[in-house]
Amino acid sequence: MADIEIEIDGKKLTAQPNQMVIQVADAAGIYIPRFCYHKHLSIAANCRMCLVEVEKSPKALPACATPVMPGMKVFTKSQKTLEAQRAVMSFLLINHPLDCPICDQGGECELQDLSMGYGATHSNYDECKRSVGDMDLGPLIATEMTRCIHCTRCVRFGEEVAGMREMGATSRGGHTEIGTFVAHAIRSEVSGNIIDLCPVGALTSKPYRFTARAFELQQAPSISPHDCLGSNLNMHTRTGEVMRVVARENAEINETWISDRDRFSYTGLAHQDRLTVPRIKINGEWQVVDWEQALEAAARGLQSVIHSAGVDAVGALASPNSTLEEHYLLQKIMRELGVAHVDHRLRESDTRDQAGFSTFPGLPMSLAEFANTDAVLLIGSNLQKEQPMAAVRLRQAVAKGAVVSVVNPVDYDFNFKVSAKNIVAPHECVHTLQTLLQALKNKDGAHPLAAACLNKQKALVLVGALTNHHKEAAVIRSLAKQIADEMQAAFGIMTDGANAAGAWLAGMVPHLRDGLLINQPGLNAHEMLVKPRKAYVLLNIDPERDFAVPSTAINALKQASTVVALSLYRNPVLEAHADVILPIASFAETAGTFVNASGQWQSFQGLAKPVGEARPAWKILRVLAHFLHLPPLTYESAEAVRDELKAKIAHHDMPKPKYTAPVLSAEKPNAGLSRVGEIPLYALDSLVRRAEPLQTAQAITEGDVGECRVHPDTLSQAGFKAGDRVKVKQGEHHAIMILHENTRIAPNAVWAAGAVDATEGLGGLFDAIVLEKA
Ligand code: SF4
Ligand code: SF4
Ligand code: FES
Repeated sequence: MADIEIEIDGKKLTAQPNQMVIQVADAAGIYIPRFCYHKHLSIAANCRMCLVEVEKSPKALPACATPVMPGMKVFTKSQKTLEAQRAVMSFLLINHPLDCPICDQGGECELQDLSMGYGATHSNYDECKRSVGDMDLGPLIATEMTRCIHCTRCVRFGEEVAGMREMGATSRGGHTEIGTFVAHAIRSEVSGNIIDLCPVGALTSKPYRFTARAFELQQAPSISPHDCLGSNLNMHTRTGEVMRVVARENAEINETWISDRDRFSYTGLAHQDRLTVPRIKINGEWQVVDWEQALEAAARGLQSVIHSAGVDAVGALASPNSTLEEHYLLQKIMRELGVAHVDHRLRESDTRDQAGFSTFPGLPMSLAEFANTDAVLLIGSNLQKEQPMAAVRLRQAVAKGAVVSVVNPVDYDFNFKVSAKNIVAPHECVHTLQTLLQALKNKDGAHPLAAACLNKQKALVLVGALTNHHKEAAVIRSLAKQIADEMQAAFGIMTDGANAAGAWLAGMVPHLRDGLLINQPGLNAHEMLVKPRKAYVLLNIDPERDFAVPSTAINALKQASTVVALSLYRNPVLEAHADVILPIASFAETAGTFVNASGQWQSFQGLAKPVGEARPAWKILRVLAHFLHLPPLTYESAEAVRDELKAKIAHHDMPKPKYTAPVLSAEKPNAGLSRVGEIPLYALDSLVRRAEPLQTAQAITEGDVGECRVHPDTLSQAGFKAGDRVKVKQGEHHAIMILHENTRIAPNAVWAAGAVDATEGLGGLFDAIVLEKA
């Protein structure tokens, strides 16, 4: 349709038909006050704060709900507009407490600001103000519901974006209240966005509450350090300490939202376990030393192993949350020493298809483009918990008619509609995909999944963590790619951590250096632990939580003669088996770059002060090279490290990751049961595990993640009942767990989460498992 000409405050503007006046005004930088309008929510038009004078209209009209018309003339500052807005404000303030001095929103409150601009100096009402009781929404969100102005942004967010109808309005008129109907904690993994959305101090951040005032804070842009999407954040600090994290808009990635993991994980930064000084072990005792002594000891330990056992006896492992610069320098140092065994894929065991990735495993599109797909096939992914913002986008796609199908070991209750599903135990996954591939080849409409996937224009096959951690991950990825080809669909992989793509580009994988394949690749992470090395360098790893098989990792560290750990936190396993522990700066305290799964490079600066003597890991590695007598690393800044790599790999932003699926043969599937070793959303990495509000939230929303969940049919076939205490066995590994019935778990599967205390002694995350009487 042709554009429309309108005039706002005498300015001639062009608008699209169906646009609202407020949208055109916003685009032109003309401010209209508002409370209920939000560009990513539906229009409620219930606050009336945006009333504006429109020529030929007898009454002022709400700008957020008035569509533009050709020749329309709008006046946002006229006498009529201001009178209407003042009248609305006086109604809004009838019951508002105006306790700004003790209100957490004070200083950044839309109501406070607008009442300064539009409020009268005295109120016409001398009746008592009403008060509304507060609710307990859980450990993340504090309420002060007397301050609520019923804009319903929080209600619409739950319904429209998060996909959980948790808040709603009860009663009418002056008695209207916003709440959860039945008292309960909010369960959504993106719930914290209602704090940003609430224009007043009714919903505020519980961990941040009463700790700072907006005007004391410094703001710096940052990037999410947890999942592969690279959500944009703003970090707020006071005298070098992170006080809170809020969303920063990025239309391509996270719009104006972030997950609770990204918002509240900063609470783990000041955890009592943070390492503050370098230490070395002398005669079995830990001693605090200065940086020089510590780095000298680290270099000496590594050199002595290389001297006595050769470079093959050394392995370097890094968290996928490390920055691009950290990955690059660690692998560079190792390779200059001659060490080939470097990896960041800590929870993966099958990497046979690694040479098939042209750049890195990732997404062939931006996250925004997810919303335009018309069919999505999810293979081995609890997307909503693994990458919450991706689930939000998929929800948008479904709202526009997309069809989602899943092949998963658990029938997850997603916040988007699933049209067809195959819920199968991990050992049945390969066969299920082979059948699906055949059905697609035969255009077999009787196969429900094939029927949902056939004849789509913009389809996407997406593989997630449950596939990547599978013991036959490479076979599943290869089949998934063949399925994608058959559907003429795009193929994407959701990788672990914030910077797996960066790790691949930086060469923190055994088969790539400077973007080129290595003829004789080193061992992958799992192989380095199964075939123990004599020396390890660990970067930001909790060995008992971050590896595919923690007990194998601990054994490998135990028998090593040198373990150098660069770590954020104290850790009992490191203290037992490491020789040098170096305290590193967190993502908030160091400059660096994360490359997201779509290939977007996002650099950030460290605004917070590192705790104690902790140092950015890239700087530690720079000096370590010197102690190892390697050619000097002379980088002045993290940017210099990044630019060197960029020049080497001639990498341009957002390449389309290509995957050439190798032909692989699958093992004969085990009979019996297999484990679903899902990583719970707040057990993911060292930082979230120390974020106490998130741990409390996890206990409320996910239940006891240390329990063993089994389908009732599987339970009775195995001769057990719910509540039984059993010995859960995987080869020589075992754990004692309590059985729980759960109809969402696939038959022949045993849900026993990874990265939690209860399963530390178990084997592979998706390997065969046996239940025995304890
Ligand atoms: Fe003041 Fe805003 Fe708080 Fe109301 S919500 S008490 S106007 S700061
Ligand atoms: Fe609006 Fe806040 Fe009230 Fe929700 S709690 S309706 S966001 S004022
Ligand atoms: Fe228009 Fe609330 S912003 S009615």
